[in-house]
Amino acid sequence: MVENIVVDKKQHKAEKYRQLIPQIKALVDGEEDLIANLANTAAVLKETFNFWWVGFYLIKNKELVLGPFQGPLACTRIQLGKGVCGVAAQEKKTIVVPDVDQFPGHIACSAASRSEIVIPIFNSNDQVVGVLDVDSEKLNHFDERDQEALEELMHYFSTFNWNE
Ligand code: SME
Repeated sequence: MVENIVVDKKQHKAEKYRQLIPQIKALVDGEEDLIANLANTAAVLKETFNFWWVGFYLIKNKELVLGPFQGPLACTRIQLGKGVCGVAAQEKKTIVVPDVDQFPGHIACSAASRSEIVIPIFNSNDQVVGVLDVDSEKLNHFDERDQEALEELMHYFSTFNWNE
């Protein structure tokens, strides 16, 4: 297994993703356990970008349930259609929120979170199985470079065994 991830932290965001994404793919290629792969992915994203909170919510019985994450304590359950995560899962599209105070129904798990990006995750049958949620304590932290890289990575994860 890949033992450490090497990313030049002095580089700009797009270059960091360019270096990081293939390493995450190599890391998960060597392991078939879903939770192990999601846990390490949350860890390396947090470590590389120093995001406030990075984690996964998985759909179980038609609601989002907290999965592997890095960062402060988070809400354990989110209804589909509620909050940024619930809307992204229901509408099956990425949502970038530059200022969480302007998002109707935003769920404030942590008052420090100011902006966020949520990417839906699909299985190989194109059903939504969860979301990747990345939160920042800075306003307007996420842009199309985050969206492109994280969507590509989540697309790669569609082959995971999401039924566990
Ligand atoms: N901000 C999210 C809730 C999850 S946490 O912040 C970890 C939302 O509104 O969907």
